[in-house]
Amino acid sequence: MIQTKAFCYFDHNATTPVCKEVLEALPELAQAWGNPSSIHWGGRQPKNILRDARKAVADAVGASTLEIVFTSGGSEANNTVIKGLFDYYQTAQFLTPEQRRRTHYMCSAVEHPAVIKAMEHLKSLGARVDFIPVNRRGEIDMAFYESHLSEETALVSVMFANNETGTLFPIKQMAEIAHKKGALFHTDAVQAFGKVPVNLHELGVDFASFSGHKFYSVKGSGFLYSRKGSNFSSLINGGGQERHRRGGTENTLGIGALGVVAKRVALIPEKAEQMAKLRDHMEARILSEIEEVTITAGESPRLSNTSSLVLKGVDGETMLMSLDIKGYAVSTGAACSSGNPEPSPVLLAMGLTREEAQNSLRVSIGWETTLEQVNAFVEALKVVVARLRSLQNDEGDSCHV
Ligand SMILES: Cc1ncc(COP(=O)(O)O)c(C=O)c1O
Repeated sequence: MIQTKAFCYFDHNATTPVCKEVLEALPELAQAWGNPSSIHWGGRQPKNILRDARKAVADAVGASTLEIVFTSGGSEANNTVIKGLFDYYQTAQFLTPEQRRRTHYMCSAVEHPAVIKAMEHLKSLGARVDFIPVNRRGEIDMAFYESHLSEETALVSVMFANNETGTLFPIKQMAEIAHKKGALFHTDAVQAFGKVPVNLHELGVDFASFSGHKFYSVKGSGFLYSRKGSNFSSLINGGGQERHRRGGTENTLGIGALGVVAKRVALIPEKAEQMAKLRDHMEARILSEIEEVTITAGESPRLSNTSSLVLKGVDGETMLMSLDIKGYAVSTGAACSSGNPEPSPVLLAMGLTREEAQNSLRVSIGWETTLEQVNAFVEALKVVVARLRSLQNDEGDSCHV
């Protein structure tokens, strides 16, 4: 009998499958091969794609069309805000002396590397940077934040939701606090897009980053929200595309696909509830059927699709590979750190020990995940953990002979 593998995908925080709606739209989008900047007939169709996608995306996140800058994804959007604002405050003419004094930057200690490394880059250029600590529950240290924020702070960057634990941060409150000191506020909303409703005008942030491939669209597409009136230098110098805010011929295929998924945001509340039921069922089963498991930030407000598990005494990478052989895709942390033996910096920043971080597994479900898949995954995890723990016990025994 041919044994069929499960091929169940539980790594939606790394990337999502491309949805049917996008797959259907792609051939037509690819037909619009003209350059959107062309004035002749070839430019009309791609220009319309950009216009319609910009409207759909702006409506989806509670913004206006002039506030959307298309980028190649979340990393570029994050780099644009952080490096672009620093450059603007260094080089722009007509700044007030008060603006020129703003050389201090802040972000949480658990940001994606696209924020952390951009901040470290500013440090190397002479900026003062503070990383706001978080506790084991993933909660941000508000006392540290308020005491370090000052009239010299240019920008605060705190993610909407953490990619590894799913923890949600008090963005609206933090943006209000930043504004009282005259600082600008950026949120990396890459993991929130498609998992929780986002209304940027209501949130009151100045900048926000989004990525298409985390929301069932194609890779290499995303956008930056830049509140009306907020300035930054362009990261990519080139033509006058995106109202001189991002040079380079637009990725009409990716942008058109973003427009398609943006129209699906109305489904988010229902899908989030569906994922919460599945995730809670999965966690309840894991906690009752596998010994010595904890859920990192399990008590805190978090995305309804994400579970960050610590399975005592079992190496995360080995678990990942054993589950992969059975057809289950999970992660040990951020996908970009795969193959890196160092434990997740996010989990370490939250105060987990190196051993706990090394024993961690990230399970992230999606819109298409089913109860059958979740149950089959729990069964597979039980087998893998029992085997790895028994192997360890055997090894332990042999050490003593
Ligand atoms: C929170 C967060 N920000 C930014 C990114 C980077 O987005 P992109 O892959 O579109 O560059 C990711 C991707 O893992 C992420 O999880």
